[in-house]
This record gives sequence, structure tokens and C-alpha cells, in this order.
Amino acid sequence: MHKRLFLHATALAICGLAATNAIAQGDTFKIGLILPMTGQQASTGRQIEAAAKLYMAQNGDTVAGKKVELIVKDDTSVPDVTKRLAQELIVNNKVNVLAGFGITPSALATAPLATQSKTPMVVMAAATSSITEASPYVVRTSFTLPQASVALADWVPKNGIKKVVTLVSDYGPGIDAEKYFKERLVFNGGLVVEALRVPLRSPDFAPFLQKVRDIKPDALFVFVPSGAGAAVMKQFLERGMDKAGIKLIGTGDLTDDDQLNDMGDGALGVVTSHHYSAAHPSPLNQKFVDAFKKANPGLRPNFMAIGGYDGMRMIYEALKTSKGQGGGDGLLAAMKGQIFESPRGPMFIDAQTRDVVQNIYLRKVEKKDGQLYNIEFDVIKDVKDPGKAK
Ligand code: DHB
Repeated sequence: MHKRLFLHATALAICGLAATNAIAQGDTFKIGLILPMTGQQASTGRQIEAAAKLYMAQNGDTVAGKKVELIVKDDTSVPDVTKRLAQELIVNNKVNVLAGFGITPSALATAPLATQSKTPMVVMAAATSSITEASPYVVRTSFTLPQASVALADWVPKNGIKKVVTLVSDYGPGIDAEKYFKERLVFNGGLVVEALRVPLRSPDFAPFLQKVRDIKPDALFVFVPSGAGAAVMKQFLERGMDKAGIKLIGTGDLTDDDQLNDMGDGALGVVTSHHYSAAHPSPLNQKFVDAFKKANPGLRPNFMAIGGYDGMRMIYEALKTSKGQGGGDGLLAAMKGQIFESPRGPMFIDAQTRDVVQNIYLRKVEKKDGQLYNIEFDVIKDVKDPGKAK
């Protein structure tokens, strides 16, 4: 009799605890932010984490009556680790949304888990066109390489450049950049005389650049991921390739705002195409850059930061609209079709593709207030990912 009473009391206590947990769970909204915080892609993690925290500091951590909790995990940019961390965040932490994803292989490895668990997956960095097709739960706030590359391939032949060599990192975004740049350039009457691919991990650019010097094209088009641009620039200049009359061009990943100011005056005049420059001349961007620098002394926001900042905004707005009802599907529905002014310019999440539609700017490296910046000189408005049409 005593024993049964005791068991009954214990059961009640456990039920009580479970109920408390359920309430606590219901009152929090968890964002699992998986980023490369160490290793070759560490600057991507540092930029996105700083931007996400800035967004929360500016907008509070209570949304639709829920306390927003940001859980940051370091995947070291190893896709198997990204996947394992995502699994843990879904099963153990019961996150409401996954976010981050520094490189394409990490995003692709995780996409099936988003589908199985019906968890929205906000891709803030990775930029291979096909990522949004890997799961109906993927929504992207970064950009795509076809978006940026096609814009540059339209500029090139109008500016006295005919013969181009392409040099890209040998994986998803590089292959997209190579393909879409070449297709469009050839369509415009230009020529790609050689297409070179360098390994993603610990690349040695020297033998490839030597080859380019020997071919002596009008221009070298480069895609390397964020953080690798400075090494390319240094070796390009060391070989005197600029003096040999070879123009350096690329997607804006090359003149990454995270590194640009340390590249030296040799970077002056380099033309790139991209969706974000820290020098974008809008009041909203000026405010964003000032606040980011104040919160992170010595750091200038780059295109990774803007993907993180706008990704947080998209999540906050979706939570407000859905009021936390309808689980992952409710949240996902409220992300689709969002339209707003970002520090990058106008931005739209296409409800059909879940990909970002945005302006692509042509920029040239120039000095402003004694610092190197990507100064925008032309814009192609509301660019959809050209990769989706195929
Ligand atoms: C990817 C990574 C980058 O650092 C970048 O600048 C563009 C694309 C990627 O892996 O998708």
C-alpha cells in the first residue's frame, strides 16, 4: 500500500516535470546555427555569428511571446559533422529552425534531415544553385553563383575583354560559376580559352596562375570561396600578371570585404559582380555597417554577414506572422514570399523556388576614406537565379 502510494506520487512528479518542460519548450523558439567557426572557412562563421547576434541585439529576443534562443555549433566545414550536429539539434535540442551552412557540401549533407523532420533550413552562406532543390524545407538568404556570374559575363565583352581564362574552386559553386559565366560570355561573342579548377582544400594557386600567365588572356575570371581571395590576389600580383596586361575579374567572393582592405593597392581596379558591398550607398546599409563595426571592432561586414543578418530577419518575421503555430510547416509558409529592404538593397524570397531574388551590382575596387572598397557602378535589378530555369 505504501509502496503503491509512493509510486503514484513519483509518477505525478514525473508528469509534473514533463508538463513544466512542455511549457518551457512552448515558450522558447530555438535556432540551431551551424557554422564553420574554425578551419579554412572560419571567417564565414565569424561573420555570420556576429551578424546574427547583432540582429538579436537590435530586435530583442522575445518574438510572438516566445524567447528566442540561438544555439551556435562549429562544424569545422566538414559535411559529416554538419549533419551530425543538425541531427543532435533536431532530436536533443528540438530546434524550431536550422540555419547557417558555410559551404555547399555541408548544406547538401543536411538537407535530407530537414525534409524528414520538417524543419526549415535557412541557408545563409552556401551558394550552389541546386541547394534549394535538395529539400522543400530549404530557404536561402545568401545568393547563387549563376546570379553573380551571368551579370559579369554581360559586362565583360562591352569592356574590351574577349579572351578569358576561368579559374574556380573545384566543387559546386565553382562549377556553377564556370558554367554560367562561360555560357553567357560565349552567347555574347566572347571566348573562354581555358577552364582551370583548383582543389577546395588547401589550394596551391601557383601552378595554375603560371599557366594563365603563359596563355596571356585578356582577363582571368576567378571564383574562390570567401576567405581565399587574398591568397589569389597576392600570387596574381607577385607574378606581375596585372603588369602583363591580364585583367583580374570575378564574383565578389574574390574581393571579400572581410579581407579586401588588407590586399593592398594592387587590388585597385579589380571588377567583380555581387549582391553585397559594405560600401552600398543606402542609409540602411550605412546604419548596418556602423552598428556591425561598433559591436565587432576591427571587423567590416562582408556578404556572409548580410546573409546571416537577413536570414535572422526572415526567421523573426516568419515567427511573428505564424505566431509559432503550425510547427515547421507554418514557419516555412511564412518565410516564402517575404519581401523587404535589406542593407544589400531590395530582397525577395521567391515562394516557388525558396531562393533569393535580388539586385546584382558591378563594382570596382577603389579607395574611399583611405580604405579599399568595392564601389558599385552599375546594377542589374531583381535577378532570379538563372540556374532555376534549366
Ligand atoms: C560557397 C562558399 C563560399 O565561401 C562562397 O563565397 C560562395 C559559395 C559554397 O560553398 O557554396
